[in-house]
Amino acid sequence: MSNVAVVGAQWGDEGKGKVVDLLTEFADVVVRYQGGANAGHTLVVGGQTTILHHIPSGVLHPGKTSVLGNGMVVNPPELVREIDALRGRGFLQGQGELFLSASAHVILPYHTALDVAREDRAAAAGGGGKIGTTRRGIGPAYEDKVARRGLRVGDLSDAERFQELVARALPEKNALLAHLGAPAIAFADFRDAYLAAARALGPFVTDTSRLLAREAARGRNLLFEGAQGTLLDVDHGTYPFVTSSTTVAAGAASGAGVGPRVLDKVIGISKAYTTRVGEGPFPTEEPGELGETLRREGKEYGATTGRARRCGWLDVAGLRTARRLNGLTGLALTKLDVLTGHKRIKVCNGYRRGGERLDDLPDDLGPRGGWTPEYEELEGWSESVREVREMDDLPRAARRYIARVEDLTELPVVLVSVGPARGETIVRKNPFRD
Ligand code: GDP
Ligand code: IMO
Ligand code: MG
Repeated sequence: MSNVAVVGAQWGDEGKGKVVDLLTEFADVVVRYQGGANAGHTLVVGGQTTILHHIPSGVLHPGKTSVLGNGMVVNPPELVREIDALRGRGFLQGQGELFLSASAHVILPYHTALDVAREDRAAAAGGGGKIGTTRRGIGPAYEDKVARRGLRVGDLSDAERFQELVARALPEKNALLAHLGAPAIAFADFRDAYLAAARALGPFVTDTSRLLAREAARGRNLLFEGAQGTLLDVDHGTYPFVTSSTTVAAGAASGAGVGPRVLDKVIGISKAYTTRVGEGPFPTEEPGELGETLRREGKEYGATTGRARRCGWLDVAGLRTARRLNGLTGLALTKLDVLTGHKRIKVCNGYRRGGERLDDLPDDLGPRGGWTPEYEELEGWSESVREVREMDDLPRAARRYIARVEDLTELPVVLVSVGPARGETIVRKNPFRD
């Protein structure tokens, strides 16, 4: 038995969904442990594209178990729509294929309204306080969780308790909304939709911590699926331009209700370059033509919001930070195909400020920190790599690029992705077996 976590090593959208879908063949249970529908995880299987927001990326494998852990924040009506869409396509047909933690927190319409109103107001005021969130209510829902006034999935099963908790919360929310110039929200606006969603979700709701302990005791392989990325972690990311949860691998333990020694391998997913969506520092960003080329070739538009992603070169210093924060045991390098056609490829291998030099990310990556990235240039390649399934068949310069990333990060590249489809992958080491 072995347990693996897959985490984003950058600012999200690294291809976690694709890698988790691929690895699910060797796992029994796939668990999301943080975040909510801010995530957009894309799977391309049999020519069909599926974008998942709440549901773990193993769901296209019949017979495997998907778990939404206690660390998540879920939007019940949206989750029901996601389940229905999957069922309509023939997935999630079996008993016991999906479980939702009774302790996961619930996103209510006032969370979404506050998220949107705060972002709009910050933008109108000149943009200084704007985070560029996904506007899904994630931050306000986690605020309520930590402030001990949140509603949990288990609270929705009792209509009276639901009403009581909302009645307690609403006056304060409406005062905040009024302050932000947004319309008030009434319980009647969402009561029925939420109770209906709660009824639909009822059969899936359970104590998922106990469930995972039972599965582990039976020798089942657990696969933990991170959402967002290391540099969006609320403690360790580019604060305040972060999400509101613990995205690093340690979050898998508390967000799923398992002990911290459960993980055997932690695989960091990184694109062969870097993207970021939303505000915040991104030192290797290429705002000009090169960034435009990467965006076009990599189809870099958000899977949740459709926003254009900012693009730039790979930041190896950032990967070293991700190695330290997650205890990475290996890297999966995705979107290698997108780098085809560049004469020279750059990677950031550290940061300099006057006489000081850092191998990993400075604490303050923004302009005030005064750090500039130091680049190393590597030879590019012009051949398409989409058809390649063995390392030896890659162009020599692409092999060198991968070897250099391994040298610089001191991590093995266990998997190389050369296209969005499940099969467009070179698997060098299987984290569940090797
Ligand atoms: P996630 O949030 O980490 O799961 O990543 P997203 O799904 O948001 O974004 C990754 C995007 O890149 C999706 O559109 C994937 O279909 C696509 N993708 C994943 N791996 C590859 C790859 O190796 N090559 C190309 N061209 N696209 C890829
Ligand atoms: P996946 O799982 C990329 C970013 C937002 C914003 C910041 C805070 O698909 O990789 P939030 O709505 O979470 O309060 O927004 O985090 N962000 C993501 N960026 N991929 C994601 O998820 C993201 N989820 C949130 O753009 O900068
Ligand atoms: Mg995504």
